[in-house]
Amino acid sequence: MKRPRALVTGASKGIGLALARGLATRGYDLLLSARSLAELESAAEAIRKEYSVQADVFPADLSIPSQVQSLVDYARDRFASELKILVNNAGYGMWGWFQTLPLEEQLRMLHVNVQAPLILSHAFLPILHQNGPSYILNISSSTAYQALPTMSVYAASKAFMVQMSRGLRQECQRQRLRVSVTCVSPGATKTNFIDRAGMEPLRKMSDAVGMTPEAVARVAIKAMLAGKTEVVPGLVNKMGAALARYLPKKVAETAAGNIYVKKLADSNRSN
Ligand SMILES: NC(=O)c1ccc[n+]([C@@H]2O[C@H](COP(=O)([O-])OP(=O)(O)OC[C@H]3O[C@@H](n4cnc5c(N)ncnc54)[C@H](OP(=O)(O)O)[C@@H]3O)[C@@H](O)[C@H]2O)c1
Repeated sequence: MKRPRALVTGASKGIGLALARGLATRGYDLLLSARSLAELESAAEAIRKEYSVQADVFPADLSIPSQVQSLVDYARDRFASELKILVNNAGYGMWGWFQTLPLEEQLRMLHVNVQAPLILSHAFLPILHQNGPSYILNISSSTAYQALPTMSVYAASKAFMVQMSRGLRQECQRQRLRVSVTCVSPGATKTNFIDRAGMEPLRKMSDAVGMTPEAVARVAIKAMLAGKTEVVPGLVNKMGAALARYLPKKVAETAAGNIYVKKLADSNRSN
């Protein structure tokens, strides 16, 4: 009999790689996807050696619609009968004033953070139901819980992820689909995120409070397998999300925004 398999996007590094490793320790075979083939292959080789599971790779740039479709086709053709977990993790942020960040790049980010998870969930939901009980794990962010000036579009993309996850979860329950949908919203995590988002001036702060990707992955996998709806890993992040929920919106977004805007102004002055 075939072992259950998980498709993990953004699995070449950071939280996605930690999730892949965490699932391999639980005996799941893997299909790892990201853009960089070399990083994917070295991750897959290490995982195969360490955990004696199958780990296949499929390189795809999820900002390009045809490549999202190629990933769907590849996974459907080869692994339809064994796919039990879809992890929508690939994503990145962009830091700066909305008007100075190139529009094309913001649209590409939205395609990775929003449209690709939507397309993958739509494609695999029937297969996951067929193979159920199965899981969709969506990685959002603590930035989902309040608007965030200088990361307005990123924060909005992550708010979308929370709402889509919750709605889809309800739909699965109401239609008796054998798929549990969980959304996990990490706070600062020590990964490549800061570099990719061009947030060097915020690195010290992020490192001071940041969790490791392994710690985030442990919480996420436990929450997913327990069938939880929405989880924020880490006490500080949980408190932040709770504050954002209960404070007037303007207070929460001004407080969060003050830090990011001040760092941006400082960095623009020194450049
Ligand atoms: N780190 C944080 O502080 C933090 C906090 C909250 C939420 N998150 C969320 O956690 C998720 C994982 O991020 P991370 O922190 O682990 O960052 P990371 O270390 O930069 O990893 C991002 C992953 O996504 C992949 N990726 C990026 N652009 C892609 C594209 N166009 N197409 C396909 N794959 C792409 C990357 O691989 P390639 O570069 O090879 O494509 C990599 O595997 C993201 O959704 C992020 O928004 C992160």
